[in-house]
Amino acid sequence: MPILSHLAIIMDGNGRWAQARGLARSAGHRAGTLAAREIVRETRRLEIPNLTLYTFSRENWRRPPQEVTFLFELLREFLSQELPELERTGIRLRVLGELDGIPSPTRQVLQHALRRTAHGSAMTLALALNYSGRLEIVRACQQLAQQKAPITEASLAAHLCTADMPDPDLIIRTGGELRLSNFLLFQSAYSELYFTDTPWPEFTPEHLHRALEDFRRRQRRFGAAVEEA
Ligand code: IPE
Ligand code: IPE
Ligand code: MG
Repeated sequence: MPILSHLAIIMDGNGRWAQARGLARSAGHRAGTLAAREIVRETRRLEIPNLTLYTFSRENWRRPPQEVTFLFELLREFLSQELPELERTGIRLRVLGELDGIPSPTRQVLQHALRRTAHGSAMTLALALNYSGRLEIVRACQQLAQQKAPITEASLAAHLCTADMPDPDLIIRTGGELRLSNFLLFQSAYSELYFTDTPWPEFTPEHLHRALEDFRRRQRRFGAAVEEA
């Protein structure tokens, strides 16, 4: 049994990592893709069935256009490079967020990768892309209202991007900030949170193991009383 069924990661600190080395922010994003590749491999090796990577928030459109263009170009490159391994190792790709609005060359590669990996059964790799936690809740409510369907926790959850996925057991944020930045707001109600100063480009499988060790020691009570010894 894997120790958790859904690991979610807020990959932060690329820009500051690069700037601290006198490099352009883009160099940090590029280094971040190498970290992402290793973490995907390690998560797959650990047989954790769901991994979500926060890749681009709706708020990230506020960045300079050159940085946004670079990020989507980098994602296109990354997906093209990784697709054979994703297919070979049974990793199913999924997107949380709105595909519309993603620049078309990247969207096309994404759609191709989604189709090619659709039958992967070893692990789901969800990329939160053009994602907003608040907006997905609003959209789910709008859909339910339009269908005149009852609004319950279960019906709402079923209309989120994560429908059919378990809630994240553990959310890791690298890069030193102590916030969720609009990530999985509904789904994180009882997630364990792990914050580390390590910037994303330096986050290795060893750091992941440390976070998982920490998670193992947590006592998840979900509101219930502590069991007496
Ligand atoms: C995370 O690193 C990557 C994205 C949000 C796309 P940042 O680019 O936010 O790096 P910092 O936080 O500025 O260091
Ligand atoms: C969160 O990082 C979004 C991603 C990692 C994709 P940000 O760098 O955008 O978050 P803030 O702006 O510091 O809250
Ligand atoms: Mg940041």
